[in-house]
Amino acid sequence: MATQEIHPSVAALDMICVESAAPPAAMVVFGASGDLVQRKLLPSLAEIRRRGLLNEHFCLLGCSRTEYSDEQYRQFAAEAVRQGLGGISSDELTDLLGRIYYLSGDYADPATYDRIKTRLAELRKKHDIPGCNLYYLSVPPILYETIIERLGSSNLSSKNDPDCRLKSRLVVEKPFGRDLLTATGLNQTISKWFEESQVYRIDHYLGKETVQNIMIFRFANAMFEPVWNRTHIDNVQITIAETLGVEHRAGYYDKSGAIRDMFQNHMLQMLALVAMEPPTSFDAEAIRDEKVKLLRAVRPFDCQWSPEAGCSIVRGQYGVGKTNGREISAYRSEEGVAPNSKTETYVAARLFIDNWRWKDVPFYLRTGKRLAKKDTEIVVTFKEIPHSLFGSVGLHHMPPNVLAFQIQPEEGISLRFQAKRPGSKICIGTLDMKFRYKDLFGGEMPEAYQRLLLDCMTGDQTLFTRFDGIEVTWRLLMPVLEAWQRSDERPYVYPAGSESFPQANALLEADGRQWHPFYGV
Ligand code: BG6
Repeated sequence: MATQEIHPSVAALDMICVESAAPPAAMVVFGASGDLVQRKLLPSLAEIRRRGLLNEHFCLLGCSRTEYSDEQYRQFAAEAVRQGLGGISSDELTDLLGRIYYLSGDYADPATYDRIKTRLAELRKKHDIPGCNLYYLSVPPILYETIIERLGSSNLSSKNDPDCRLKSRLVVEKPFGRDLLTATGLNQTISKWFEESQVYRIDHYLGKETVQNIMIFRFANAMFEPVWNRTHIDNVQITIAETLGVEHRAGYYDKSGAIRDMFQNHMLQMLALVAMEPPTSFDAEAIRDEKVKLLRAVRPFDCQWSPEAGCSIVRGQYGVGKTNGREISAYRSEEGVAPNSKTETYVAARLFIDNWRWKDVPFYLRTGKRLAKKDTEIVVTFKEIPHSLFGSVGLHHMPPNVLAFQIQPEEGISLRFQAKRPGSKICIGTLDMKFRYKDLFGGEMPEAYQRLLLDCMTGDQTLFTRFDGIEVTWRLLMPVLEAWQRSDERPYVYPAGSESFPQANALLEADGRQWHPFYGV
């Protein structure tokens, strides 16, 4: 994370920026000694502090099984902040560390929660915190229900507290269940102790600046929305390609696969933002209502006969190959992966949205690990012009206009169009008009967790998934999960370092189309 240098040409334009500072809060982080807290939460908190948005009445109580004293945990936190956030001043760091505390305990033991309660009461008094408790679950999902039940039964959840100023909030990371049944079960446990308005389900893609920009781009401009429909758009492609493999997470990943890890959440959330109807306001419920409506309109997959044929969703698993010139071993040889694993590391699908706006416009979605390049993008291809004026010189077909949102790592937007090239009387060629965030705004993009943490503190649920939004995605994917479970077939093995593979290509070729090459702006 770095301070942002804004290009003078942008600084001179009208800018309307709204940011709310966090109110007083006591935050309890479960899983406080874990990787996510170290890499993302603590540096993001320090950045919020640096921006002057952290309330002076704030404290963090870390909780996990590791035995640390307050002082030892502060050292852990200081190291995490130094690693994740260059250039924090020692005064700022000292101030933040002075509000960080630690308590070790067993998540299943009710006594841990009694100790949390006593400690929180002391800390609230010490830091004069009248506001809410924020419980952040940064633990393996298998522990969610245990912690939530214990929070509830030890009266830490305060669902029924009439004094709403004291209402606690619960922050949960994906995955939210591993199918419809477990997701519903998790929600029942949550709703026993917390109201929906107290629950913040994190899908970190929604915290990315470029993902948030999809909505601003669509609804703060007059020129795109009139053509954002089946009359003008030929197809939409959404890609999340990673070069990384499963790293140290094989234990989790081998039981999940790309469909649960990426498709059910990040991919479908991006689809919802691209395709939803305009909400009536920039209000959490208005936006979440539209996203759920859109996801409900996705045509169900028909996987009754065979998992692959007719199902419009295909899977692959990486084999040996090369990325960035480095030899990569096959997924099945990764440490912690079953040697006969059928887990998919790549999913590609064709979806249709059965509503007036999108009827019969294909949305092609793909995500995979160990691919040729890291690249997240949304590519909207418009229809060809209805009639070419230039048929007499052999130009019967013009390449279509293409609008691409480059989500990461080279954040930007590009618009491809036809233009006259200087020289001959008729010389038409494709041009790309490109905008790169880093050229205009400099530096790195703010970390998604900074946005999400601040929003949990200020009580803005816009970028968090509501339970009905989770349920609808699992409902959509259940026939696929069941068909894959029934099948003995191994997913297609693609060499690490590929861009695609034949079955994924066939989804588009059947429609006379192709995947856009990994695009970039
Ligand atoms: C996580 C997945 O949700 O997103 C990981 O569990 C994946 O498997 C990661 O690597 C990708 O996130 P990003 O922000 O690096 O694109």
